Amino acid sequence: ALKTILENGSRSMDLRYQRHEIRPGGLVPEGLPYVRDQGTDSVQTLTVWLSDPAARLSVKLYYSVFEEKDVIVRAAELVNEGEKEITVEKAASASVDLPYGHWDLLHFHGKHCMERQMERVPLVRGVISAGSARGMSSHHQNPFVILADRETGENAGDCYGFMMVYSGNHNMEAEADQTGSVRIVAGIHEAGFSWRLGPGETFFTPEVILSFSGEGLNGLSWNYHRLIRENVCPARFRDVRRPVLINNWEATYFHFDTRKILRLAEQARDLGIEMLVLDDGWFGRRNDDNAGLGDWYVNEEKLPGGLKYLAEEIKKLGLKFGLWFEPEMVNEDSELYRNHPDWALKDPDRAPVMMRNQLVLDMSRQDVQDYLFDSMHAILESAPIDYVKWDFNRSVANVYSALLPQDRQGETPHRFILGTYALLERITAAHPEVMIEGCAGGGGRFDAGMLFYCPQIWCSDNTDCIARLKIQKGTSYGYPVSTMGSHVSASPNHQTGRRTPLAARGITAMSGTFGYELDLERLTEEEKETVRAQIREFHRYYWLIQKGRYYRLDRPETADYFTAWEFVSEDGLEALVSLVVTDVRANPEFPFIRLQGLREDVLYRAEGTDLLISGAALMYGGYTLPAQTGDYPAVQIHFTADTQDAAARPAQSGQ
Ligand code: DGJ
Repeated sequence: ALKTILENGSRSMDLRYQRHEIRPGGLVPEGLPYVRDQGTDSVQTLTVWLSDPAARLSVKLYYSVFEEKDVIVRAAELVNEGEKEITVEKAASASVDLPYGHWDLLHFHGKHCMERQMERVPLVRGVISAGSARGMSSHHQNPFVILADRETGENAGDCYGFMMVYSGNHNMEAEADQTGSVRIVAGIHEAGFSWRLGPGETFFTPEVILSFSGEGLNGLSWNYHRLIRENVCPARFRDVRRPVLINNWEATYFHFDTRKILRLAEQARDLGIEMLVLDDGWFGRRNDDNAGLGDWYVNEEKLPGGLKYLAEEIKKLGLKFGLWFEPEMVNEDSELYRNHPDWALKDPDRAPVMMRNQLVLDMSRQDVQDYLFDSMHAILESAPIDYVKWDFNRSVANVYSALLPQDRQGETPHRFILGTYALLERITAAHPEVMIEGCAGGGGRFDAGMLFYCPQIWCSDNTDCIARLKIQKGTSYGYPVSTMGSHVSASPNHQTGRRTPLAARGITAMSGTFGYELDLERLTEEEKETVRAQIREFHRYYWLIQKGRYYRLDRPETADYFTAWEFVSEDGLEALVSLVVTDVRANPEFPFIRLQGLREDVLYRAEGTDLLISGAALMYGGYTLPAQTGDYPAVQIHFTADTQDAAARPAQSGQ
């Protein structure tokens, strides 16, 4: 978990227990996101002091126990107590030993347009690791892994979760050793990392959220869902309805002007949509992805009258207004780059690696952070803006800062992330009412670190609902649906070319923050009616979806036939089941599901039927749907309790 080099070249470290202390409350690490102790959980923190007198290094291990939530948050703090410098080459957040067991590792890998694909592999003797050295938490491996007993399924069995509260390079290592014991080490990736710890200086690792469930993977997911919603995301957005939005990206891409956007807003309003988000292309000379990034002033050729006029016109329609930024990036073809070429990360003697024609700004620099704060602040002050989409469209390469000395370059990746957090902190402090949606070429930075500032994150640039089922399902192992940005887009889909019915697109997007992202002008009158009905349904089930307990209902034997999931109200008296058939069959078996989380002795009615079925029958006997045919048929079934007792209690969607 720890690698150090002392000034004399020694790489040995022998940390021994000194003392410990237990005090009430959680941790508030400076400059890093963290799991918030809201005062409503009886949190206690255990601190264990270790030290190596020869190295004069102390390590404080923090364990914040959120007992009611079945969570322990772990972090470590290194303190150089000597007079000599210590070079830290690795400082993990947690190292957890399990002395027994046959475990599988579940990790969430992917790529652009296919994030968080769950893969389950048995541990082998040796080390398996899931990490990212891309300067961001990445599309490629999410900073979340699960250790599950070989027998563990969705609803039974033991499993442990490990989730970083961090958005940069990370590594989750799982090692099964010769004695059969298992060790998980989770923390900042050691690739490219080193930190010079001067006399008296401290280094704080990011937090890692540890949890356990003896009730299978659905139980573990619930622990994380609850904690992220209540203790990680900003509290001020927790209990407010988020608006159903229209985003213009897949409707117009870069080709828009004020007239087109206002037309889209009018149509959106007529359908019941509540916010318009203006995506990439409103600033500088940004007419395609070759130029303009970094120049955060409005392009008046496209938007005469500026953002103020546009936003005010949109407000007159009764809609909220949101705006896209990509703060950490710069195009070579921009005023910003021409004036400050040294503000981009790049090696002194090497042509920089380009991705999407752009470079990454050196967020470790105060002047870069100040420039970004000032320009974003000015824009947010200039017009009534309710929401920001904060994008990040490439990985970080050439991680070399022009300001840091040669022997401190290994600090750049972590300082980069600290700089990003500092900017987010300033923007959210200056504009607490503006909700930020995170984004990174889709879901390339979907992590608890970003969720600390942004209560929702765009899940993927792949808006094909059938591909989305897998992406959102993979995401659901660690993150609640209230954080998953998901939209209905056009058919055929722009990424895959697949044709899907509006019902399947609506049901899939509804299990998220919900919005639309397509040219509304192209909808038929019938489709418009369907959209209106979808929005009504979403409002009806809003709290059930956002706060209800979520269950994946698939079983291995039906996984290639359909995807099904369920939301259950806290009191267990109301449930919403969604099911999308992904492989339609001739002479098919009837889709069959077993509900979860109901009350055994309560009778439930499936909306539109007269039949009363007990919770026990629905959970253990199951529920069979009629045969489904056609292109990707999708259904939503609402179950409500039908007892005197139940009627007396408020159901969640009625809030
Ligand atoms: C990537 C995002 O994921 C998209 O939604 C869109 O905002 C584009 N960037 C714009 O460049």
